[in-house]
Amino acid sequence: MKHFLNTGDYTRNELQAMLDDARRLKESPYGKALEGKTVALLFLNNSLRTRTSFDVGAQQLGGHAVVLSPSGGMWPLEFEDGVVMDGEAEEHVAEAAGVLSRYCDIIGIRAFPKFIDWQVDRQDRILNSFAKYASVPVINMETITHPCQEMAHILTLQEHFEKQGRGALDGKKFVLTWTYHPKPLNTAVANSALVIAAKFGMDVTLLCPTPEYILDERYMSQARADAEAQGHTVTISHDITDAYQGADVIYAKSWGALPYFGNWEPEKPIRDAHKHFIVDEPKMALTNEALVSHCLPMRRNVKMTDAVFDSPACIAYDEAENRLHVQKAIMKALVR
Ligand code: CP
Repeated sequence: MKHFLNTGDYTRNELQAMLDDARRLKESPYGKALEGKTVALLFLNNSLRTRTSFDVGAQQLGGHAVVLSPSGGMWPLEFEDGVVMDGEAEEHVAEAAGVLSRYCDIIGIRAFPKFIDWQVDRQDRILNSFAKYASVPVINMETITHPCQEMAHILTLQEHFEKQGRGALDGKKFVLTWTYHPKPLNTAVANSALVIAAKFGMDVTLLCPTPEYILDERYMSQARADAEAQGHTVTISHDITDAYQGADVIYAKSWGALPYFGNWEPEKPIRDAHKHFIVDEPKMALTNEALVSHCLPMRRNVKMTDAVFDSPACIAYDEAENRLHVQKAIMKALVR
């Protein structure tokens, strides 16, 4: 039984096969691949796109989705093994995953970090516990990575470069740029953008204000290994002009600097001093007519100006739509 926890668990060819199927599903949305099957969607955090697209996607393939969330009356869960459960948790993940596996054919999990101790959060314990105890496939709906977003992003780039006659992704200059946000956010989408761009053969530049914003070494080294294996590079830059120069893709995301994880006050002045990392027209003018995107939700005129977001270069709506198509392909592949 295979889960969909991280794209690193799959080869580029395996992921491309799912992307090709997503294209077929985009052309012909309805089918019976999930007929008689139920998908449990467990949201420990908010969502607009993920919740809707998984629910709609399951229905379009003849299946049924059940959305669960603690605010919707679910029992609080314990994720540690071997503990005395005398705290808030009423149920251990072993029973929750085991019982859901009796009712459902796929379990999706959204569980963001707790933002207290990165060494704890980087273990991705909630996702991995469900994968350990479930007897049906588990899908990562965003924890410390966001592999469904990765797939939607790559499909969207492939579609647009193909339409523009600009060929394959290999060798394209991909810039993942940190942007300002008033709060320190999850690194999940940044980790994901970095690794998937490298996996699909792009030359990746990570643009961030200071070395403190470099991503976890797990994802940096995974991206470097994938890039080098295909003759490409991963570059770290703190220079906006250098990074944007000649870029084919700009992907915008904000995240909190890991050295300040759980002790965010001293990070705030650094973040506040880099509001100029916003994606705007003068920066986009330096690029090679780059496509620009963001996973959404996005604060307009904080991370990206209206002028850029509403321009034809911005593919964020297409990327959001493609969440539906790629997730259907992923669910199909897992229940096959
Ligand atoms: N991009 C994304 O996952 O959106 P939601 O948080 O709204 O699901």
